[in-house]
Amino acid sequence: MAEILVAPSILSGDFADMAKSVADLERWGGDYVHCDVMDGVYVPNITFGMPMIAALRPRTDKVLDVHLMITKPEKYVERFASAGADIITFHPDASENPSDCLEKIHRAGKRAGIVFNPNVPIEPYRPLFPQCDMILVMTVYAGYGGQKLIPECLERIRKVCAYLREDGLCVPVEADGGITTENVDTVKKAGATVLVAGSSVFKAKNPCEVIRLFRQDTK
Ligand code: DX5
Ligand code: ZN
Repeated sequence: MAEILVAPSILSGDFADMAKSVADLERWGGDYVHCDVMDGVYVPNITFGMPMIAALRPRTDKVLDVHLMITKPEKYVERFASAGADIITFHPDASENPSDCLEKIHRAGKRAGIVFNPNVPIEPYRPLFPQCDMILVMTVYAGYGGQKLIPECLERIRKVCAYLREDGLCVPVEADGGITTENVDTVKKAGATVLVAGSSVFKAKNPCEVIRLFRQDTK
């Protein structure tokens, strides 16, 4: 079984004290800090930008996994990189030149990936897979935490994993949205090895236990 990484999303953290939410996430055993950047244009919500990443960078050694839900991400990726992002993923349908955007992230010395919203076809962007260090498959529509996982998206995880195998690419697939201890096994069986968890961790009575259950081998 491939190593499972858990990426708690600070979208469900305490916006009045995000450094504490990151310290909590570390104590609970999170592997990545999933940072949901929203611009109110690509998605109908606004969260935070480069200043939040820069503020959190000195407070944690964990990987800052920055998910850009913004239009024209190519205009901002260098600034997110210098703010301290370790992994920068973006929605290719929001970019004028996704290949160039991936290249820009690599030139800034960071890991790069693309994100598929549930209504975005995968095939047109398959040629980008060799440039990706991670591929994020949304299991909800991007924009809000606390939504229910869309079961049809599990097939999309399977499809991306199959394409990666066919293309001989060893690229981790991250799943994002509505993942809970009830459905996490189905998400892992579909092939995701990096699991975003917002409300299921931050709203849990025992967040450590949730992360432990996310990690344990599927039954
Ligand atoms: C939604 C974000 C997700 C979300 C996950 O647009 O990309 O990362 O925060 O939160 P939950 O796990 O509560 O669905
Ligand atoms: Zn996200």
